[in-house]
Amino acid sequence: MKHEQRPNRTANIQNPKLEGRRVLVGVGGGIAAYKVCEVVSNLFKSGVDIRAILTQAAQEFITPLTITTLSRHPAYTDPVFWQPSHTRPVHIELGEWAEVFVIAPLTANTLGKLAHGLADNLLTNTVLASCCPVLLAPAMNTEMWEQVSVQRNWQQLLSDPRYHSVGPDAGLLACDRVGSGRMAEPEEILASVRSLLHTNGKRDLVGKRVLISTGGTQEYLDPVRFIGNPSTGKMGLALAQAALHRGATVTLVHAPISWEVPLGVRAISVVNAAQMQQAMLECFPDADVIVMAAAVADVKPAEYAQEKLPKKLLPNSLPLEPVPDILAELGQRKQPHQRLIGFAAQSGYIVKPALEKLRNKKLDAIAANPIDKPNSGFGSDTNQAIFLDKQGRQLEIEPCSKLELAHHLFDFVSNISG
Ligand code: CTP
Repeated sequence: MKHEQRPNRTANIQNPKLEGRRVLVGVGGGIAAYKVCEVVSNLFKSGVDIRAILTQAAQEFITPLTITTLSRHPAYTDPVFWQPSHTRPVHIELGEWAEVFVIAPLTANTLGKLAHGLADNLLTNTVLASCCPVLLAPAMNTEMWEQVSVQRNWQQLLSDPRYHSVGPDAGLLACDRVGSGRMAEPEEILASVRSLLHTNGKRDLVGKRVLISTGGTQEYLDPVRFIGNPSTGKMGLALAQAALHRGATVTLVHAPISWEVPLGVRAISVVNAAQMQQAMLECFPDADVIVMAAAVADVKPAEYAQEKLPKKLLPNSLPLEPVPDILAELGQRKQPHQRLIGFAAQSGYIVKPALEKLRNKKLDAIAANPIDKPNSGFGSDTNQAIFLDKQGRQLEIEPCSKLELAHHLFDFVSNISG
């Protein structure tokens, strides 16, 4: 089927910005190559144009036909440097074509070659013939990964700002060893690719400490019942991931969430507003950028029962008390170098109430977030917002993935002066 004739894919709605973006995937020889199939398949569903190169060793684990089928484009293999359909050498054309180059799994061998600028196959030649950001996802046995020579090569490679890394994680390896060297999961790799497509490799938050709150706080009435809200924490996790991908040191204070905190993010788990307040106040003085994305339950039961209340003892009405306004308190303590950002989850007209919150809580910026639109707000993978800042700037962000929205917010904040 020709590309133009493809039927509409729902993934386009989730990630409209990825349609037609160009990602080159280099597959190395390791058992984790099977996981790359999921990466390719997901990128395709997001509308990305994919080309892939398999090294000879990679073909011992997966076939070119697998990748060809998933990417809807013939996979490239050695020793082809010329193809009749290309007017110039394949490595030059592919290198110029790619917006992001992902190498997964990255073997010790390819890692060593890249660290020393060597090129003896199509994959490594294409790296040298390209200048786009390269995302590396190493995968190997723990002993191999921890070798001084491999670590030296790895550090040398990462000292070049062109190279970005994802993983390796620790866990059970195919050699039955439990340790580091496991390739990052497809979702982590996909998030890093999406970030690189947005930032083009920009690491504008290197040296910055970013503090984010997320999730819906819960105020318990007894050990099993609480006042809460439907927030799942996805927006804050996307903010943490985006900040991490831009080079920041990230701390995430989270109320209960149903998702894993990205590797590399310092997580502080809390339940109620008082605990979140304490954690945020403790971390606040060291932070440069603070984003309060948590949905703080505004009230708590006036009394807490230590034992579960039997049904017949449940009151007909519940006396409530307000919880602290954490963001307003941070606004009072804010130093001139700090950037404080809030979220305003609103229904109906969203700009006016968000502007009031911006002023009252002494914020630098606020993301006014409609919760009554389809594919937006609590629990959704996508979101939309109007960003407002203290200088009167206003920027509307159309529906996009939460990761994309997070990047737009950091772009917006980077232009706030004073
Ligand atoms: N917020 C907070 N502490 C609270 C309530 C809200 O830190 N007790 C923060 C939220 O994390 C968000 C911002 O304040 O960044 C706005 O929250 P929102 O719930 O939209 O507004 P409220 O201030 O609670 O006002 P209202 O519920 O009346 O809209």
